[in-house]
Amino acid sequence: MRQKSDSCFSSHSNRQDTLWKKGYPNIQYGAQLVTLNGVKFKDTQKQILQFKFAYLQSKYLVVDQKYINLENIQMKRMMVPQQNLACLKLNNNFDSLEIIGSVICIGEIYDYCKLYTIQENFESHYQILKLMGKGSFAKVFKIRQIENQQIYAVKIFNKNKMFDNEEENQKSLWKEIQIMRLMNHKHIIKLREVYEDNNKIYIVTDLLNGGELISHIEKQIKVYDESLVRKLVYNLLDALAYIHERKIIHRDIKPENLILKDENDISNISLADFGLADFYQNDGQYLFKRCGSLGYVAPEILQDQHYDFKVDVYSLGIVMFLLLTGEQAFKGSSTSEVLQNNTYGKIDAYKLAHCHVSLEAKDLCQQMLNFDPNQRPTAEQAIKHPWFKVDNKHISLHTISMNRIPQNLKGQKEFLFSLTPLWVNKSLRSISDSSDNLCAQTLNVRDRTIKEILDYHHFKLDSTVYDLEDDYIDEQESVANRIENHKLLVKQRSLP
Ligand SMILES: Nc1ncnc2c1ncn2[C@@H]1O[C@H](COP(=O)(O)OP(=O)(O)O)[C@@H](O)[C@H]1O
Ligand SMILES: [Mg+2]
Repeated sequence: MRQKSDSCFSSHSNRQDTLWKKGYPNIQYGAQLVTLNGVKFKDTQKQILQFKFAYLQSKYLVVDQKYINLENIQMKRMMVPQQNLACLKLNNNFDSLEIIGSVICIGEIYDYCKLYTIQENFESHYQILKLMGKGSFAKVFKIRQIENQQIYAVKIFNKNKMFDNEEENQKSLWKEIQIMRLMNHKHIIKLREVYEDNNKIYIVTDLLNGGELISHIEKQIKVYDESLVRKLVYNLLDALAYIHERKIIHRDIKPENLILKDENDISNISLADFGLADFYQNDGQYLFKRCGSLGYVAPEILQDQHYDFKVDVYSLGIVMFLLLTGEQAFKGSSTSEVLQNNTYGKIDAYKLAHCHVSLEAKDLCQQMLNFDPNQRPTAEQAIKHPWFKVDNKHISLHTISMNRIPQNLKGQKEFLFSLTPLWVNKSLRSISDSSDNLCAQTLNVRDRTIKEILDYHHFKLDSTVYDLEDDYIDEQESVANRIENHKLLVKQRSLP
């Protein structure tokens, strides 16, 4: 059995093979190339490696006719102060490579490689400043890089919580990081580097300082009108078209995962949380097949049908509905009623038809919420909708208010803050910790389809509080943390 202190990446294929591969890697045409000059290489036996040329491109270090895939291998930077030299050590489970050169030169290679590799000693590189948010699996903090005082954010996973279903949890983490590494878009969260120590994984990203879209909606801090919603939807469709072009489905578009860069501008938004994202699979087999959040997930996922990129368009349609009408798309006086409406795509069409926005806005929203994925536009098609071309004069300047969200309606609040994941997986342990009864109930639910759940009359959704222990700071609770909780569950692996 593996020890708790083992690396979460040690069973990754790239750690378990020889460091060097023969030949040239398969690199997408046009990827930026960084030539390495004035450096020395030393292999595992500390022998100097002679070479004609060396360069970095995509996730590879290429030296003559062999290469290293940098993905998830360990990296350490060391200084040799007397000689004004520095050394970068790269290694997997078997081999290592040392790159030695001037401090500046090694600094540049280090800056390139840190997106792909895993480093140690997070705490000697960063100072934790403030808790920014909590999700279902991790906490996010504002941090300061000690070397240059730059501000970033870090998402911290507690490895001890990944112990149950370890293999699945590790794969899920690898996937989240792998997908984030591919992202380079103005409206998508940007990964910087990854650290690991005995107990935690640290994913360093750019800081998004404006708060979750959900808290702006909830607090009604800023008044906004249709033109702002239009910019926001445009930016997010652009982000979706970008990820879909790379064959990635996000699967958890909801206002908690849409984070503002600037709190004064709701349209300056970033798509975050790739925890449920995956590469599209033609055969419908995913690490997690059923996933999403109640009130935002596309009906075809709830109905266990084959699904594709259009599920993200649907979820963004729900966010758009909320922003245009000031109300939730799926009504219901209980969670299971909402689930029922969500499963059959029964949105409150009357509300959309009667809100004070342009016909074009209503039309696009309706199209994005089309129950039939074949009739629903792709992100690329949606971005060409006439709504984005109409003259500002024809756009309603009516202030949209969230006041009409019936706060007192039972069940309404918890799905507005839809942290509510749909299928349990990672959280099983915490739920079982808190109550054996509930554990049994939850486990039963795990293998059932939503339809079976809806048909099962005595089924009662539990309301246990999912307990995330406080690791660092007892800060003011984030919106996500106030959610009553895990009524239904987040992830369920692909069905056999
Ligand atoms: N880069 C960031 N800057 C600021 N806050 C962030 C950042 N990333 C995440 N957050 C906050 O932390 C919350 C949880 O992060 P998220 O990635 O969604 O985790 P989870 O997968 O656990 O839901 C977000 O909803 C948001 O409030
Ligand atoms: Mg999240």
